[in-house]
Amino acid sequence: MTISEKSGTTFWQCPSNIALIKYWGKYPGQLPANPSLSMTLNTSVTKMKIDYEFDSRLDSPEISLLFNHQAAPRFEERIIKYLPSIFDILPAIRHCRLHILTENTFPHSAGIASSASGMGALALNLYEINANITGISEPEADKWKKISELARLASGSASRSIYGEWVTWGKIDRLPETSDLYASPLNTGIHSEFLSLRDFIIIVDKTEKKVSSSAGHALMNNHPYAACRYASARKNISDLIDILAAGDVEQFIQIVENEALTLHALMMQSTPSYLLLKPDTLRIIELIQDFREQNKIPLCFTLDAGPNIHLLFHENVEKKVMVLLKEISDLCSKIEILKDGIGQGPQTLSKS
Ligand code: DP6
Repeated sequence: MTISEKSGTTFWQCPSNIALIKYWGKYPGQLPANPSLSMTLNTSVTKMKIDYEFDSRLDSPEISLLFNHQAAPRFEERIIKYLPSIFDILPAIRHCRLHILTENTFPHSAGIASSASGMGALALNLYEINANITGISEPEADKWKKISELARLASGSASRSIYGEWVTWGKIDRLPETSDLYASPLNTGIHSEFLSLRDFIIIVDKTEKKVSSSAGHALMNNHPYAACRYASARKNISDLIDILAAGDVEQFIQIVENEALTLHALMMQSTPSYLLLKPDTLRIIELIQDFREQNKIPLCFTLDAGPNIHLLFHENVEKKVMVLLKEISDLCSKIEILKDGIGQGPQTLSKS
């Protein structure tokens, strides 16, 4: 191995993403039970800086971590558990001291997948550290596949945060470039209707959810509707790919809201069953649907594994959406709104 840079700093910003076709259910090896499709966000990002030192005497990495300037033992443990799973892919990491400083631009448990941006940022940094130490450089396309694979091994949804705009993860028969091992940017053409989407995240409840996503995925293993869900997700993703290319907003709304409600229906039908929606979630969904009906403005909602709502609409109706937001805040006084939208993907930051 040529040692080209034994110590240094890497610094990456990685966005979160919101899935429209949901990944819910997985097989061993962090492989998805069905393909998913997401939109990469713009302002909801993790910024992670790692100071690294290569020391051939180390047989396992040593890490220290500060999250938002504070110790975060749970996050640190998750990374310690994850690292051995990537030694085969990034051999130099085994012999590193890693001092990780990380922060999110969005509040914790805000209904934004923090593991997607956090684990995406980790994968980007670790890939660069290994490349700096070994001096190995790969063709661009292979490099991004590998980073997405590294992110997937940490958290499935993180695999999609490695690319901007519209991204799929999981084998889709009609798209030969797709794989269960890594995400792929959607290159089937996107209609202008869907190029400038906004995502206003309506935070109904910030308390930590009572069932983690990992536990939720596990409950799909003996789920009575699993097979039928995986089949309908496959159909929905194929339909949505065509809808995104054709610019069919009505069909888009139909599939996106169906996927969101199906995700929560699956939770309600698990054994044991559980419910993450709150009364305000339902009140706001009703307001959104009534507003759409009455004003003929194309907007819709999706949900992550939590009670908070992602309100999706084209940027050119943003003014009209403010009227809806006023109605929502009059009804539910405790909500907060994070204004986000479609984003371009990760970027490296200045190390100074
Ligand atoms: C509902 O990616 O958080 O957000 O792979 O166990 O880390 P792990 O799960 P995670 O699951 C995300 C589930 C979801 C839908 C999605 O993002 O596709």
